[in-house]
Amino acid sequence: MKENRLAPPPDELVAIRRAVEWAIVTRRSARAFLEKEVPRETVEAILDVARYAATGVNIQPWKVHVVVGDAKDRLCAAIKRIDDDPSHSTTHSDEWDYYPEQWVSPYVDRRRALGWQLYGLLGIERGNKSRMQQQHGRNYLFFDAPVGLLFTVDRVMCEGSLLDYGMFLQNIMVVARASGLSTCPQAAFMKYHTIIEQELSLQPDEKFLVGMSLGYADESRLENTLVSEREPVSSFTSFHGLERP
Ligand SMILES: Cc1cc2nc3c(=O)[nH]c(=O)nc-3n(C[C@H](O)[C@H](O)[C@H](O)COP(=O)(O)O)c2cc1C
Repeated sequence: MKENRLAPPPDELVAIRRAVEWAIVTRRSARAFLEKEVPRETVEAILDVARYAATGVNIQPWKVHVVVGDAKDRLCAAIKRIDDDPSHSTTHSDEWDYYPEQWVSPYVDRRRALGWQLYGLLGIERGNKSRMQQQHGRNYLFFDAPVGLLFTVDRVMCEGSLLDYGMFLQNIMVVARASGLSTCPQAAFMKYHTIIEQELSLQPDEKFLVGMSLGYADESRLENTLVSEREPVSSFTSFHGLERP
C-alpha cells in the first residue's frame, strides 16, 4: 500500500492536538493590555491564518478594519465623548440584536455570574453604578490594547453569515493566543455603530458587527485573572442511538 505522505507521523499528531487544545482552552478575554506594540506583520499573519475559516459556499463575508495609533485614539475619543455623557449616550443603540430582548434562565444566570465575577475581582460592589459604568467604558479604549479590530459585513448578507463570521473571529482569537497575544471580542461597540461608520468612513453597504481588542495582556491586572465557567458536555448534548458503554 502506498504511504500517505501528507499525514503527519503519529507523534507529531499528538503534539499538534495538544497545541490546538491548549490554544482553545487557555484563550481568555483580556480586559487590560500592556502598551507593547503589535507589529502590522503580526496582525496580518493572524488574519492570514484566520481567513481559512469554513464559510457556506465559501462566501468569506468578512471585512476587517484595523485601528492603531492616532486612528485608534480618534475613534476612542469620539466614542468616549458620547459614552461619558448620558444625555447623548442614550440616543445611541445597537443596529442589530446580539442579545435577547428577554433574558431567561439559564442564560441570565450565566450573564449575572460573569458580571459579579468581574466586578468582584475589581472590588466593585453591587449597586455601584458609576464604577460599573466606568469599567464598561474601558471597552471604548479597547482596554488600552494597541490594536483595535472592527468587523463589518455586507448588508446584503443574511443571518447565516454570522455563523461564518463566528468561525473567523474564533480563528483570530485562537491564533492570537498561539502567538502569545490576547484578545477581547466586544459587542459593546455595537451601540456606537454610527460613530464607527463616520470615523472609519465605512461604505454604505457595510454593516458594523463587532469589535475586538488585540495585544499583550497585562497579567498583573486583577481583571485578567478572571476564568469564566463552562457547562459540562453532558448538560448540552443528547446522544441519539449511542448508549454509554
Ligand atoms: C461576540 C462577543 C462579544 C463580546 N462582547 C464583550 C464586550 O463588549 N466586553 C467584554 O468585556 N467582553 C465581551 N465578550 C467576552 C465575553 O464576556 C467572554 O467571551 C465570556 O465571558 C467567556 O469568557 P472568556 O472569553 O474569557 O472565555 C464578548 C464575547 C463575544 C463572543
